[in-house]
Amino acid sequence: MSLRTRSCLLSLFLGVVFSRLSLCNQVVLLDTTSVLGELGWKTYPINGWDAITVMDEHNRPIHTFQVCNVMEPNQNNWLHSNWIPRQAAHRIYVELRFTLRDCNSIPWVSGTCKETFNLFYHETDDAHGIKFKPPLFTKIDTIAADESFTQMDLGDRILKLNTEVREVGPISRKGFYLAFQDIGACIALVSVRVYYKKCPFTLINLASFPDTVPRVDSTSLVEVRGACIDHAEEKETPKLFCGVDGAWLVPLGKCVCSVGYQEVGGTCVACRPGFYKANPETNCTKCPPHSFSYGEGAFVCRCEKGFYRAKKDPPTMACTRPPSPPRNLMFSMNDTCLMLEWTPPLDTGGRRDLTYNVLCKRCSPEPSRCQLCEEELRFLPRPLGLTNTTVTIVDFAAHANYTFEIESLNGVSGLSSFPRQVAIITVSTDQGGPSRVGGLKKDWASPSSIALSWQQPEQMLPVAEYEIKYYEKEHEQLSYSSTRTKAPSVIVSGLKPATWYVFSVRTRTAGGHSSYSPKFEYQTTGDSSDMAPDQGQVLVIATASVGGFTLLIILTLFLLITGRCQWYFKAKMTSEDKRRTTCQNGHVPFPGVKTYVDPDTYEDPTQAVHEFTKEIDPPRIRIERVIGAGEFGEVCSGRLRTPGKKEIAVAIKTLKGGYVEHQRRDFLREASIMGQFDHPNIIRLEGVVTKSRPVMIVVEYMENGSLDSFLRQHDGHFTVIQLVGMLRGIASGMKYLSDMGYIHRDLAARNTLVNSNLVCKVSDFGLSRVLEDDPEAAYTTTGGKIPIRWTAPEAIAYRKFSSASDAWSYGIVMWEVMSYGERPYWEMSNQDVILSIEEGYRLPAPMGCPVALHQLMLHCWQKERNHRPKFTDIVTFLDKLIRNPSSLLPLVEDLQSLPESPVEEMDYPMFISVGDWLDSIKMSQYKSSFMAAGFNTLDSVARMSIEDVRRTGVELIGHQRRIVSCIQTLQLQLLHEQEKGFHV
Ligand code: ADE
Repeated sequence: MSLRTRSCLLSLFLGVVFSRLSLCNQVVLLDTTSVLGELGWKTYPINGWDAITVMDEHNRPIHTFQVCNVMEPNQNNWLHSNWIPRQAAHRIYVELRFTLRDCNSIPWVSGTCKETFNLFYHETDDAHGIKFKPPLFTKIDTIAADESFTQMDLGDRILKLNTEVREVGPISRKGFYLAFQDIGACIALVSVRVYYKKCPFTLINLASFPDTVPRVDSTSLVEVRGACIDHAEEKETPKLFCGVDGAWLVPLGKCVCSVGYQEVGGTCVACRPGFYKANPETNCTKCPPHSFSYGEGAFVCRCEKGFYRAKKDPPTMACTRPPSPPRNLMFSMNDTCLMLEWTPPLDTGGRRDLTYNVLCKRCSPEPSRCQLCEEELRFLPRPLGLTNTTVTIVDFAAHANYTFEIESLNGVSGLSSFPRQVAIITVSTDQGGPSRVGGLKKDWASPSSIALSWQQPEQMLPVAEYEIKYYEKEHEQLSYSSTRTKAPSVIVSGLKPATWYVFSVRTRTAGGHSSYSPKFEYQTTGDSSDMAPDQGQVLVIATASVGGFTLLIILTLFLLITGRCQWYFKAKMTSEDKRRTTCQNGHVPFPGVKTYVDPDTYEDPTQAVHEFTKEIDPPRIRIERVIGAGEFGEVCSGRLRTPGKKEIAVAIKTLKGGYVEHQRRDFLREASIMGQFDHPNIIRLEGVVTKSRPVMIVVEYMENGSLDSFLRQHDGHFTVIQLVGMLRGIASGMKYLSDMGYIHRDLAARNTLVNSNLVCKVSDFGLSRVLEDDPEAAYTTTGGKIPIRWTAPEAIAYRKFSSASDAWSYGIVMWEVMSYGERPYWEMSNQDVILSIEEGYRLPAPMGCPVALHQLMLHCWQKERNHRPKFTDIVTFLDKLIRNPSSLLPLVEDLQSLPESPVEEMDYPMFISVGDWLDSIKMSQYKSSFMAAGFNTLDSVARMSIEDVRRTGVELIGHQRRIVSCIQTLQLQLLHEQEKGFHV
């Protein structure tokens, strides 16, 4: 770069506009002051202009042209230059420096003396001289002096020099001539400088821009793209615009020094050894630890021996190495879990991406016989890529030797050829933990449930519980669910239809967990097209925490597939046949299942009696004593003899004399119904006496009479299993009835009879008559007579009786049984019962009631009748409980943690104070005792134990029981309210 260019650059305005009119943006085509030899300009006429050359102090010529013919008129003196090449110019500038004499300062010249001269030019490609003719020339301008000098100035040696610049263009020929016409002035032309303007070469933003000639058209700019200087690269295309005045305008874009180079004073200089630059936008920096650069201009530093850079490591990062092995590897083991624990390596290799891999080898006694065993074991969270310094191993075999190698790794472990560094430990599982369960098999499956059972393992310690782990096969091991049971069977519910699941089971004993059984895969059945999504599935969840463990009982029962009435009798049917196929309240009989026939469908009810009952010859009956009174007459006990059979005890219902026909018909209707049933939990009809007086219905004798009074008489006498056995019997009888399509409508403990073996049998059939007969039945607003406390809300509201409404009643019977004959809802009025049920209130668990049973009750009391369990489900569930008595151990009052979701739709009323609460449970008499004992907030009451209740002064067992039961409900209420965001 020339000195001149540099000086031009210094004068740049860095921002937008370069210095204006400085010499650096001018290309000089002619400067008479710098012509050393003869100028060779021509004059016409000879006596016009004079070329006078004088030497300056440096002995360089100064070419001047003078004329001063001011005394003579009509002067026309021409001076013209040599041919001046245009070069790249489109527009030229002519700068004249001259002096001019003031005409007034010259005596006697008025009229002839002039004070101007004319400037002309002539464009031509011909460089070899012209024959001068004034008309060839074009006038540029008349030049006048800004200042003219006088005689006095001369005397004072004052030189008044004028400088005038004129612009000429556009010019397009290769060159041109200039001409000066004098018309009678006194002039000394001191210098002529001819130039054009350019935007000069420049460097800006590490890009170079060449000399650029502006456009002639003064309104447009020349766009110039810059070139990045050496070792620089474009960040954004560098551009400048050349203005008409030779000024660069509007710098855009830029270059940056390439990797390995950094900018120093507008150039890109190589990084020194030991430094590097990896990113064009940064500066050279020292090599990171464990790396070096020998030469100049390094864009990355190389790792020292033994150190590496992982693929994703940035060049700015230090070189690193694999970690040293983990330290202090230890194991701890219980019967089901083997925990390996270690401390991180001393040397992490300088990285943070430390992980651990666990390799397992199972070795038999012969030393060389080892095989890999990761596949057999389950590592929690996983065997490879561990970030914590611990891993839990389950599903390991007993009596085995495992060798575990823990390897620490980091991001450069794979780059090192150095042998793996591992910590090794050998673990023997020969510690005699609980043995695994075996023989896991599927009992049945529904679209949403699978019932499993398995063999109890043979071992010394009793099994405390089984844990069943399961997951969807398709989503293998992504996540799994587990459930627990005390019996060697379970119903896993909440499953997807037609989906394969993987199950395995382990035991827990006082000695710890066993390993899991091998995995078994079972599939749920497909969805039934005529089932509503929720129908047919009832989930009974019992969760309780007892003595530090939680029991979860899940029962999912499935719906019998329903369909429209199926005509299973062939084509031609008698009216009788038709009756047989008639469904009571829409009940759908199954092919091959005996169906209940409504006696009212017989035109002559006597015919139904004949059809379904046996006539007993009265002498076979021996009445012994009156045991009760019914609506139609006395109920007696007695004996019945049947030829060839053992005499049996019977109960004899009599129709008192003076009856009218419809009373006889109603009386015998029950026999016609009962006579159709044959089930161990339905009271058996022995026969009727209709052909003589008194008309009698003879049924099997039930020694313990009705269930409600029996329980009241034996309050607290039975084990839970015995009570559940009774309930199971009732459920079984009801399943039989519902399967036959019979809806009882008045199921209650008072209508259930108990024999000497504690077998409960459902009795009191007779549809509307039953209700007339029932002292509990009350008239509803719709005019029906209904036993409100036992009846489902939809049956009360709009007489929608069904097996589902019988299931509601069954829940009440459960409550009656578990409370030993307590009256449901105690002294609450029927109206209050209806209202509180509507508000979501449900009977709390009776004292001593297993969680599982109360949960089953709550399910029977679901508002949505399709969500209630079917009797078949109830029987299955109770069977499970009976087979697995420990599942009945958790009692509601033992709840330490509350069930997460007691029952959907449950919505309990809120109480404000302990007093209100005691009022609501009809225990107002204990208000002062509660206050005195410090139980003055509902929260504190909710935490009361049975002992607290006793200490508070509640002495009566029944009252204790009621209060404790209601505390359970209160807990649920408070939980419920908390969930809703309320504060008590
Ligand atoms: N009360 C009503 N029916 C009875 C029966 N079958 N056995 C005993 N007592 C009864």
